[in-house]
Amino acid sequence: MYKIADEEIIPRRWYNIVPDLPEPLSPPRDHDPEKSSIDLLNKILPKEILRQEFTSSRYEDIPDEVIEQYLQIGRPTPLVRAVNLERILGFRGKIFFKNEGATATGSHKINTALPQAYYARKEGVEEVVTETGAGQWGTATALAATLNNIRSTIFMVRVSYEQKPLRKKIIKLYGGNTYASPSNLTEYGRKVLAKDPGHPGTLGIAISEAVQYALEKGYKYMMGSVENTVITHQSIIGQETRRQLEFMGESADTLIGCVGGGSNFSGFSFPFVESETEMIATAASEVPKFSKGDYKYDLIDTAGIMPELKMFSLGSDFVPPSIYAGGLRYHGAAPALSLLIREGRIKTEEVTEEKSMEAMGIFARTQGIVPAPESSHAIATVIDYCKNPENQGKTVVFNLSGHGLLDLSIIRD
Ligand SMILES: Cc1ncc(COP(=O)(O)O)c(C=O)c1O
Repeated sequence: MYKIADEEIIPRRWYNIVPDLPEPLSPPRDHDPEKSSIDLLNKILPKEILRQEFTSSRYEDIPDEVIEQYLQIGRPTPLVRAVNLERILGFRGKIFFKNEGATATGSHKINTALPQAYYARKEGVEEVVTETGAGQWGTATALAATLNNIRSTIFMVRVSYEQKPLRKKIIKLYGGNTYASPSNLTEYGRKVLAKDPGHPGTLGIAISEAVQYALEKGYKYMMGSVENTVITHQSIIGQETRRQLEFMGESADTLIGCVGGGSNFSGFSFPFVESETEMIATAASEVPKFSKGDYKYDLIDTAGIMPELKMFSLGSDFVPPSIYAGGLRYHGAAPALSLLIREGRIKTEEVTEEKSMEAMGIFARTQGIVPAPESSHAIATVIDYCKNPENQGKTVVFNLSGHGLLDLSIIRD
């Protein structure tokens, strides 16, 4: 039914980096000593997801049904050599990209949405709730929920809700419900709106609303990024990339990806962590979490309902500019990724919106694929890297975390 190569490339286990980190990962910390965050997580997460969040085993078996669904939504995704881009840059080396935009929902987010919805369904959950920034995570949640016969409610950051009307439509088509956040649906949303009725919203606020809503209704919460479980599920990207490179007789000198909460970059790069491969994580200059943020315990969400995590953060009340790359507006980054950046194992870059838009155009005109605004940040780093005389001859692999076909409203006439 499927090409044999597909079956050979899809891994049967997710990789969890926790046991391979240079020091033990600092655990989540209670924000309010009166309220245990573990009790909260127990209420809002499926049991299996909570177990995976705290496990220190290196591998987790992927259930057969999830493998089947991965095949259905387009995994393994292609690893493509960007020959036209190499030519136009005059690069004397090789550029490959892992095309996560080739999945059914158009980004890597479906890689964790499917198992989270699967475990929720196994535990008898009727509805899942989440937040979304750019809309990619909301789209993936809606499809994963529908494929598992459960309902979904999605709090979408208001600025994206208004900038990206097509996202609402695809979520609706997949059977999900969206609300602009801050909303009147939750106590926290009403509080934010009372202070500022025109608040553009942030991911931190939308997470608070989703968690509050799930708690109130007895539904389960789906995590889009930042948490270990998500990064473990996303390891499918890097594991496939390794196998595809092996099949092609290639090996990566440098890996490049963009960072919002850290899930696509970590999933792509962590399976290479034990090698010598150079790794570069690109954030948005407008959200300078690595250059201007602190490495500290900070809140995941703005209301402080969720526990605190040790990570690079600009503060959970940071209100980022309304950049197009909604998925890069998050104030923090995954703890394991933050630790490896602090240790110097992973380097960082920052790219302005202007540069990312230029890169989007170059990639579209050379490779024919319209990259997501988030992924365009990674491409801008790739272009700079390949123009540097010191990097000639290298093999650069980057993660094209999503396509931008539903983001075209941002292109000026
Ligand atoms: C296409 C795409 N890339 C990247 C990101 C950034 O998130 P993360 O760092 O968790 O991969 C997002 C988030 O919405 C996204 O939609």
